[in-house]
Amino acid sequence: MLSLITSLLSIASIAHATPLQPRAPEWTFTEVGNSGIVALEAIVVSPTLAVIFDRASDDPLQINNHSAWGGLWNLETNEVKALDVLSNSFCASGALLSNGTMVSVGGDPRGFVNNPTIKNGTTGLRIFEPCDDPAGEDCTLFEDPANLHLAESRWYPSSIRIPDGSLMIVGGIHENTDFYNDIDRAALTVEFFPPKFGGVPRPSEFLKRSLPANLFPRIFLLPDGKVFMVANNQSIIYDIETGDERILPDLPNGIRTTNPLDGSAILLPLSPPDFTPEVLVCGGSDVDDTIPPALLSSQHPATDQCSRITLTEEGIQQGWQVERMLEPRTMPELVHIPNGQVLIINGGETGYAAIATVKDPVGNSNADHPVLTPSIYTPDAPLGQRISNVGMPTSEIPRLYHSSVTLTPKGNFFVAGSNPNANTNTTVEFSSEFRVEVLDPPFMFVPRPQILDAPEKIGFNQQFTVPVSIPSDLQANTIQVALVDLGFSSHAFHSSARLVFMDAQLSEDRTSLTITSPPNRNVYPPGPAFIFLTVDDVSSEGARVMVGTGAPPPQTD
Ligand SMILES: *[C@@H]1O[C@H](CO)[C@@H](O)[C@H](O)[C@H]1NC(C)=O
Ligand SMILES: *[C@@H]1O[C@H](CO)[C@@H](O)[C@H](O)[C@H]1NC(C)=O
Ligand SMILES: *[C@@H]1O[C@H](CO)[C@@H](O)[C@H](O)[C@H]1NC(C)=O
Ligand SMILES: *[C@@H]1O[C@H](CO)[C@@H](O)[C@H](O)[C@H]1NC(C)=O
Ligand SMILES: *[C@@H]1O[C@H](CO)[C@@H](O)[C@H](O)[C@H]1NC(C)=O
Repeated sequence: MLSLITSLLSIASIAHATPLQPRAPEWTFTEVGNSGIVALEAIVVSPTLAVIFDRASDDPLQINNHSAWGGLWNLETNEVKALDVLSNSFCASGALLSNGTMVSVGGDPRGFVNNPTIKNGTTGLRIFEPCDDPAGEDCTLFEDPANLHLAESRWYPSSIRIPDGSLMIVGGIHENTDFYNDIDRAALTVEFFPPKFGGVPRPSEFLKRSLPANLFPRIFLLPDGKVFMVANNQSIIYDIETGDERILPDLPNGIRTTNPLDGSAILLPLSPPDFTPEVLVCGGSDVDDTIPPALLSSQHPATDQCSRITLTEEGIQQGWQVERMLEPRTMPELVHIPNGQVLIINGGETGYAAIATVKDPVGNSNADHPVLTPSIYTPDAPLGQRISNVGMPTSEIPRLYHSSVTLTPKGNFFVAGSNPNANTNTTVEFSSEFRVEVLDPPFMFVPRPQILDAPEKIGFNQQFTVPVSIPSDLQANTIQVALVDLGFSSHAFHSSARLVFMDAQLSEDRTSLTITSPPNRNVYPPGPAFIFLTVDDVSSEGARVMVGTGAPPPQTD
């Protein structure tokens, strides 16, 4: 017996000592640094930089003798530089404008005891102009609350770039809420930045009907210039010009999908020639939204349901098609992968968003059982076979309420944040999370195609040619060219995130690619984008371009 154990041990140690064959490249989580603030919102603003925001709290990162709540994350060096923010950006939204300027929208009215100078952020407009310095030197946020502000107070709004390159800002609440939105404090309107229609917020019946679980409505610009919205279990198509709302079918099986019953939603990749829009909604809850939070449990399972709809007349008649994730998820994130698949990541298997409001919070978290293994959704696969986590790695870091994820210009994913606590709290279960990870797809570890040069600007419906290099081991059986808005990550939603495939022809000698840009501003609203070239499932880094003229909004033809 003893000798058997000895020999097993020696086999084991030999197995360890023998140099391993190089492993096939696989999806990998790597912890890369510390964000200094809880990165609960994130948006890529240049090839090397992401702006991150937290609430005004007592985070370790300091600026001007107080805790910071904004930062510039350097995707090259994995270091953070504090940004001085004037108003409380907690639970805000944001997007890029047609001239490349990032705008952070709305926020928290409250100050913070250790920092009396903080300003009320509910009408906040925080401007970050295009930043050319790779390390973000001299790039700052600009705020002028007296002269530059929203028309209506909005905490928990969503905002997307629309066809003229300005922002449409939807919903939210005026002041503090512990859990649900409520009719006396809700922002039941739509407004624009720069202002439109006289700057008067336009009432929305949809926002009223979808109370009380309708914060951070999931909204998408469609290729006909209208906007699809889903909040709670309701959905509509919104006409930007007239404000008309066409009611679409409810999500099936009583599933609700917006804060505090957060699922997520994504506009699936748009492909030529028809750019047929399809929206996927995953996760959230089947709970009745009339139940007070004190009667809800952190242990109540979230839903594993995904619902998908094609937004054509025929698709709307067919309604939502239901499929199932591998596990239930509250607060999942759905993120575009350059090859057209969708990453499903983060969240918990039970409970809800928000902080310490259910009857049995874990620490202060209304959610529990973090999901640590991402899945991949393949839109073109047959129903029932679209979701897989085969080969996906498992993280050690729970990412529950107040997390952020974004695809980066490198082609991998920035994964940060999580803080289901009222302030910075490092001693509780599900504590404030400062560790940043990257999730690398397998192609990060092999020779990759490269776009060697890209035009600074591209117009609509134009052909342009870029020099490329393609590793010789790739046969180039499939060539995909994606024009991507990486979106603004906040509260399990990526405002403005968009992936539009473009027709492309590879030259016979494989050194240049002739690409046809999107047909019009409805398919890709004018503004910044990254172009990713994927050859046989191996993606390049993103090449930054400006779609349209780069002029400030509103852009007209
Ligand atoms: C920060 O505090 C130090 C020491 O109290 C003081 O000398 C310095 O002027 C302060 N800096 C700012 C920007 O307020
Ligand atoms: C925050 O600002 C809004 C808009 O000006 C105002 O209505 C609200 O009362 C302010 N809240 C606080 C707590 O100061
Ligand atoms: C959507 O929610 C409303 C309000 O709770 C409810 O009346 C309606 O039946 C729900 N729709 C479906 C399809 O479950
Ligand atoms: C952290 O959360 C726990 C549980 O609610 C609480 O007892 C503790 O006071 C919190 N710590 C801070 C610094 O807020
Ligand atoms: C972009 O447009 C916005 C809105 O008009 C403006 O605030 C900002 O300063 C502009 N930035 C540049 C670089 O033109």
